Amino acid sequence: MAKAKTQYTCNDCGSLSPKWTGQCIDCGSWNSLTEVALTQAPKGRWQGYAGTQETTVQSLPQITAKASTRLSTGIDELDRVLGGGLVEGSVVLIGGDPGIGKSTLLLQALSNLPDPTLALYVTGEESLQQVSLRAQRLGVGKMPLKLLAETQVESIIALALVQKPRVMVIDSVQTIFTQTLQSAPGSVSQVREGAALLVRLAKQSGISLYLVGHVNKDGAIAGPRVLEHMVDTVLYFEGEKDSRFRVVRAIKNRFGAVNELGIFAMTDKGLRGVSNPSAIFLSRSHHPAPGTVVMVSWEGSRPLLIEIQALVDESHGIPRRVTVGYDHNRLALLLAVLNRHGGLAMHQMDVFLNVVGGVKIVETGADLAILAAVLSSFRNVAIDNAIAFFGEIGLGGELRPVPGGQERILEAVKHGFKRLIVPHANAPRSKIEGVEVYAVNSVSEAFSRIY
Ligand code: TYD
Ligand code: MG
Repeated sequence: MAKAKTQYTCNDCGSLSPKWTGQCIDCGSWNSLTEVALTQAPKGRWQGYAGTQETTVQSLPQITAKASTRLSTGIDELDRVLGGGLVEGSVVLIGGDPGIGKSTLLLQALSNLPDPTLALYVTGEESLQQVSLRAQRLGVGKMPLKLLAETQVESIIALALVQKPRVMVIDSVQTIFTQTLQSAPGSVSQVREGAALLVRLAKQSGISLYLVGHVNKDGAIAGPRVLEHMVDTVLYFEGEKDSRFRVVRAIKNRFGAVNELGIFAMTDKGLRGVSNPSAIFLSRSHHPAPGTVVMVSWEGSRPLLIEIQALVDESHGIPRRVTVGYDHNRLALLLAVLNRHGGLAMHQMDVFLNVVGGVKIVETGADLAILAAVLSSFRNVAIDNAIAFFGEIGLGGELRPVPGGQERILEAVKHGFKRLIVPHANAPRSKIEGVEVYAVNSVSEAFSRIY
């Protein structure tokens, strides 16, 4: 038997090298090379491809794309993040901190299938008894789901080909291993090879696959970034474990909108979709507090009201910019705009920013609300709690339009906001009942409208 060949690949840039080195020669990152098994290379230069003539070149109009069949998961919020249901033969990676609810959500999704006998739940972390206990807590203990406790990927695939499930869960991808590699389960190369084999299974057999992935300290799914490239959809659980609410965000989706949010509440019967998510992020007290403002955010395909809090305090030493749920570089950029175009200097001030409710804001529509919160805290004067904001701020201090203007305004009206400060280009064309919309062109104009 020929000796199995191995190569080394960089986890950061994916480049290959025949020998292990401490530093990747391509991207320069340290200690990032891991062993991978080589598939048998074809002999000669072209012969390897000669026999495989099943594929042909086609011109685009000849291709009749059949609409991808989607299977409802039975959980509205999960369908929403998936882009309208689970696509046949697609691979969904679900990441999140331990204990956040990944196994719970997937067990619920499987038992909600029209025919639960077509689901296979592969557990590598928990025993079958533990899964059964959880199912009983969720009230689905009697569902005829198929369970399998197995970690060797070749056996999983062989069984899947026999059982022919429609939906399969691998919980988790860090526990599986393939015989072809020597390294320990959970190592980067094992995770990647195992996942690659499972992805191929999904594509060839049409089984829809959920892969559960753990998140490491930095918040990335432990294992190579390549895992995110291989799958069709990447979902992350966001938010705090101690909070009652769980937010699932689509980071990547080949079949739907990215940044789509699914919002759940953890109850004693598992995760329940939240039908009116804006209400949970607003803890509007009766007395408006300095530094607190409400913004209308746009998450995936729906508007969401989110409360933002800023605290500006005199700095003793190097001024600090600390953010929770927001990019701190973007805050620094906004503070520079505030200095140049709003006439407020923050370079002797600490600025703390918190997005309430454990959501992460990734869109620029939050810019105006953030500066309004900073202004309010700096002056120590509360902003009327019937005002909501949205709008992007440019480096010239101008206010730029953001997508979904009309829908954002309507969402704010729905929750009882009486006034809105928005970019000029987002002004509604006709008057909306019950709300006064101030369409402004610049940061300074917006500020003059606030008080
Ligand atoms: P779990 O789904 O096992 O998380 P993961 O697979 O992401 O590690 O954990 C769920 C957590 O939620 C656990 O701390 C217990 C709690 N929980 C409930 O509050 N209600 C329930 O019905 C269930 C099943 C779990
Ligand atoms: Mg789990």
